[in-house]
Amino acid sequence: MQIWTVANQKGGVGKTTTSVTLGGLLAQRGEKTLLIDLDPHGSLSSYFGYNPDTIEESVYSLFHREVAHSHMPLASMLRRTSMPKMDLLPASTALVALDRQIGAQEGMGLVLHDALNEYKSHYQAVIIDCPPTLGVLMVNALAACNQLIIPVQTEFLALHGLERMLKTLEMIMLSNKHALNYTIVPTMFDKRTRASKDCLEQLRKTYTEHLWNECIPVDTQFREASRAGQPLCTLNALARGNQAYSRLLSRLQLVDETDMDMMRAAG
Ligand SMILES: Nc1ncnc2c1ncn2[C@@H]1O[C@H](COP(=O)(O)OP(=O)(O)OP(=O)(O)O)[C@@H](O)[C@H]1O
Ligand SMILES: [Mg+2]
Repeated sequence: MQIWTVANQKGGVGKTTTSVTLGGLLAQRGEKTLLIDLDPHGSLSSYFGYNPDTIEESVYSLFHREVAHSHMPLASMLRRTSMPKMDLLPASTALVALDRQIGAQEGMGLVLHDALNEYKSHYQAVIIDCPPTLGVLMVNALAACNQLIIPVQTEFLALHGLERMLKTLEMIMLSNKHALNYTIVPTMFDKRTRASKDCLEQLRKTYTEHLWNECIPVDTQFREASRAGQPLCTLNALARGNQAYSRLLSRLQLVDETDMDMMRAAG
């Protein structure tokens, strides 16, 4: 099972759009896909028509069942999306209190990892959409995944956010004692603006190995897709934004394969 986390401590950089669009492309290719919404704001859940203020069972129940020692099955928390091959583990607003409730408790960093382990045979791909904050939810996502995707908006303020995210990653990798491969994805690139071009150039100078060598363009069709509650691939597969995510998907799958080859070679 391929598990990807989409994270950046900076808000509004395209995390949720990246999660939905990549998930849609995987499902369209026939892979049984699970999207997980870890953001208390629940944008990903709202995308597919679920209200995070009123939803009953959500990813919050996963953490709660751990504390309450209940055996509520993960299946009871899952919801449908617009695509038959793609399910959603929604967020609820209650997640906002999670750090205060359980953040300091031993073992809470592996709740998602353990739950997905139980579900290995059900899905070929899992994509985890993180909130723009470092806390127990992001820690869980980073411990559960085998690749991290960091969307970075192509504007200068976003570069600071990227540095902060990479420091967080380093800290978490040290405490988990396992290296995590990551890919930096420039998003919302507007070729008409100097700022976008300068920022991309700066990214290319600073981050070579982990930077995807293309970018996701600004495309108003993402807004249309979210209004329709569908990933862009089912609304307009030919949209520039969708085509760019499709090329990104090939790169991410290559990173996974290279990782697997290295693990096999290491025995
Ligand atoms: N490539 C793009 N072109 C045009 N609009 C985009 C693009 N990517 C994202 N958007 C829009 O920008 C807004 C923010 O995107 P998104 O919600 O994906 O960011 P986010 O990082 O998940 O935000 P948050 O940190 O609040 O969770 C949304 O309205 C989305 O439709
Ligand atoms: Mg989001």
